[in-house]
Amino acid sequence: MSEVTTFPSPTQPLQKGKLINKLYYGDCLDIMRDFARESVDLIYLDPPFNSNRAYNAIYKDETGRELPDQVEAFCDVWTMTAEREQKMIDFKSALASKGDFVARILNMWHSALRDSNPKLLAYTYYMAERLIEMYPIMKANSTIYLHCDPTASHYIKPIMDAIFGQKNYRNEIIWWYDTGGMSKRDFSRKHDVILRYSKTDSYTFNVDAIKEPKNEQQRKRYEMSKKWGDASTYRLSSDLKHPHDVLKIHAINPKAKERVGYPTQKPLSLLKKLILASSNEGDVVLDPFCGCATTICAAHELKRLWIGIDIAIHAIKRVAKSRLQDNYRLIEDEHYVIKGIPRNIEGAKDLWQRDHFQFQKWAVEQVEGFVTTRKTADRGIDGRIYFRLKGYAEHSSMVIEVKGGKNINREVVGQLRGVMERETDSVMAGLIVLEELGAQKKANFIDEMAKAGQLDDDGRKYKKMQMLNISEILNGRSFDTPYVEGKGKRQKVLKVTE
Ligand SMILES: C[S@@+](CC[C@H](N)C(=O)[O-])C[C@H]1O[C@@H](n2cnc3c(N)ncnc32)[C@H](O)[C@@H]1O
Repeated sequence: MSEVTTFPSPTQPLQKGKLINKLYYGDCLDIMRDFARESVDLIYLDPPFNSNRAYNAIYKDETGRELPDQVEAFCDVWTMTAEREQKMIDFKSALASKGDFVARILNMWHSALRDSNPKLLAYTYYMAERLIEMYPIMKANSTIYLHCDPTASHYIKPIMDAIFGQKNYRNEIIWWYDTGGMSKRDFSRKHDVILRYSKTDSYTFNVDAIKEPKNEQQRKRYEMSKKWGDASTYRLSSDLKHPHDVLKIHAINPKAKERVGYPTQKPLSLLKKLILASSNEGDVVLDPFCGCATTICAAHELKRLWIGIDIAIHAIKRVAKSRLQDNYRLIEDEHYVIKGIPRNIEGAKDLWQRDHFQFQKWAVEQVEGFVTTRKTADRGIDGRIYFRLKGYAEHSSMVIEVKGGKNINREVVGQLRGVMERETDSVMAGLIVLEELGAQKKANFIDEMAKAGQLDDDGRKYKKMQMLNISEILNGRSFDTPYVEGKGKRQKVLKVTE
């Protein structure tokens, strides 16, 4: 087993405040808008696509229940609205400066899909909106790799032609893998597509770094040098085989050491190949849909700096963070920072102002809860904490309500109690308030809550209704409930070794 190269070394943390390595939690659309122009050397993105059933698995909690808000966010991508239609028209005129060819492509694409497949039109617009934010943040010599499947690539390619320029289209890379099913009626589907575009004609391409061994003897030498843990092992000699656009790389099998259990995880070696080809040590690699941080791990091992973004807090906090820690001993705030997640009461207030829904989601996750609400019609539940009562096979839950506003009154307690009593599997209710209540108000709330009585779990008593404010939560307090499965435990992540 070889030592994994770390960069920066865990014993030599970069100066705080100057960290480039970042994990962001949020929609990459909003986050990339704040990036400096021409600040990124390579972008790899592996966005969601409907044909991939694995997405259902991302949007489930640890008890196997669906997380409706995330499912909804995903389905939302497929809904065409009047507002989206207007934005798309604006988008087309913004791109008109790129010439008649681009305008024609976009018009054709719009009118072809508008009536026949509005969902697909909404998806392509979703992608276009984000891809157009990537263009200005790319340096002149940078490259973008977009990973999708063959059911999406032909819709996304005209958009990339429009944004990056048809002349900057470089490759359609086939990632060939040997897993997947077989059909008696079709050729087996064994590949994904990776579209590669450069920003300009002057782009980084390190051909020697990705040459493959020509024969068995060379392969052995190659494997030997890999054993020595040299990050530049792919550079063996100039007579290796010239790389072509079909990459034969095994998909991650269920027993693979690098597997972390994230449903759409991609192989580290695939990412390493792309990063080696199109960046150099010290360059900045961005993955705006980073999932379980495969791109980040590859970038780190190859001594690149990195930025990852994911909309699922679960991906950032539970998976990416622990993968970085377990594999490379990278510590939050020493070797990288996590952004988009409030750290103090000011940050929490700021998040509430920016986005009420994200604030509620964040607050629920702080107390080990799962967000179970839809953005609309939440029927008074913002989340749930699941636990198992002694002697019961099924999970029970505490329903959670989050209140961000300043003016909340005692009626909230009565309503929440109604929700707790209405929902079949809920036996407790928790109220989270952003602002600390005045002493009298707090006493009134507590009196009202006490009327709900206590829960008896095999002799241990819990107040059925409880309240916490955000400052208390930030100080580490949580609701007093029966044992919450997975609480305080990081998701199991296996070591990456090659
Ligand atoms: C296919 S997965 C990426 C998997 C990743 N390549 C890996 O190896 O783990 C797509 C990811 O995009 C995230 N996502 C979806 N919409 C997003 C958005 N608007 N901004 C940022 N991330 C998003 C999903 O939560 C999911 O983790």
